[in-house]
Amino acid sequence: MEELVSLCKRRGFIFQSSDIYGGLQGMYDYGPLGVELKNNLKAAWWRAMVYERDDVEGLDAAILTNPLTLRYSGHEDTFTDPLVDCRDCKARHRADHLEDDVCPNCGSRNLTDPRPFNLMFRTAVGPVDDGSSFAYLRPETAQAIFTNFKNVIDSTARKLPFGIAQIGKAFRNEITPRNFIFRVREFEQMELEFFVKPGEDEAWHQKWVEDRLDWWVDQGVERNALQLYNVPADELAHYSKATFDVMYKFPHGLEELEGIANRTDFDLGSHTKAQAEFGLHAKVMENRDSNTKLAIRDVEANEWVVPYVIEPSAGVDRGVLAVLNEAYRVEELEDGKTRTVLSFKPHLAPIKAAVLPLKKNHEGIVGKAKGIKRELQALGLGRVLYEDTGNIGKGYRRHDEVGTPICITVDFQTIEDDDTVTVRDRDTMEQKRIAVAELPDYFREVIR
Ligand code: GAP
Repeated sequence: MEELVSLCKRRGFIFQSSDIYGGLQGMYDYGPLGVELKNNLKAAWWRAMVYERDDVEGLDAAILTNPLTLRYSGHEDTFTDPLVDCRDCKARHRADHLEDDVCPNCGSRNLTDPRPFNLMFRTAVGPVDDGSSFAYLRPETAQAIFTNFKNVIDSTARKLPFGIAQIGKAFRNEITPRNFIFRVREFEQMELEFFVKPGEDEAWHQKWVEDRLDWWVDQGVERNALQLYNVPADELAHYSKATFDVMYKFPHGLEELEGIANRTDFDLGSHTKAQAEFGLHAKVMENRDSNTKLAIRDVEANEWVVPYVIEPSAGVDRGVLAVLNEAYRVEELEDGKTRTVLSFKPHLAPIKAAVLPLKKNHEGIVGKAKGIKRELQALGLGRVLYEDTGNIGKGYRRHDEVGTPICITVDFQTIEDDDTVTVRDRDTMEQKRIAVAELPDYFREVIR
């Protein structure tokens, strides 16, 4: 983990947030390469979940959430972790993370009894902070999917089964944030709520578990670094009938990367009940019929159905950590030196190709290299970098270390002779000459 954290800072992937003021615990900022990696991971998820399927719609909802949403979802009452204080050193811990009920800070056993601590952040809404008007920062993106359920079916005419996908920030006031970006207070989730007919939920649950394992493998995570954890009944979240956690061998140990829950009709049912019981929507109350429910019409059976929900919910930051950890290696070279490589899958690499001119002051070489950069960039496959630091060997090493799949060197032969360039492969370090005219096809093949 230490090596990864150091590489991430040195090469501009991830920084401690508010670093110059001593940091803010549990918050991280993504730097120039980190933002590319994170965006690429999110884009891969969106492609697989929305574009490559015909049964999923997208959503991007507000982060600040009406407290009633989180009251009726059960989060106000139950979204807690057990908190204990050490009476000797005053440190605070999560009771379920302690070994043998010993304070990890000072070794004392003089701890308070655990008490529930709600993880939701709240903030004042509007200019007067008198406690009467507040909102929660959402602790999961899922709730806005449920509260928008009717909006989406009314505007898209969807039938079961179908899903709503969302990627976005979530906030939890974790008692002990730790392990770099693994457990943080501000993070991103990639969540799908997949609505199915009751009775078909268990088969869909199994299917989604298999699909999600395959997807992580497609992102470069070794299958044998992943394990499934069938969450026992006494550990299930308040909304879940069954959950499989996708566990990954993080540098600090085997921990949850993604949770895939069968949320039944808990959420749609609770929000429907809330509206009916408390008349939250006067208009809805006036015309109370089955339309008021967060339900969908089953035309064949001629009835309203409150769907069950299968929810694959993955952490973006944990995904970034897993992908970095899988890609990271230090290799011994024949000359006794070592090289550090991030062997990302090309679609995740922050920089897809670097174009390096052999001489940075040579007009012909520089012009040609810049032209190649422009042409490859225009293909829209991700960032292509023109870089004229002069030392080609050092350039290759630097790009190995940030995971750039190919480096393209423009030299005298390119402009004076046969219009070819040297293409160097990150993983094999093999170099070959390719005609400039063939570069776009070659590049497309490597990146896709
Ligand atoms: N909507 C369901 C839900 O939020 P969860 O298991 O609490 O379920 C889903 O969270 C995923 O979000 C986790 O598998 C993890 O990847 C990520 N996650 C949760 N808490 C996190 C935290 N404090 N820091 C980073 N990622 C977190």
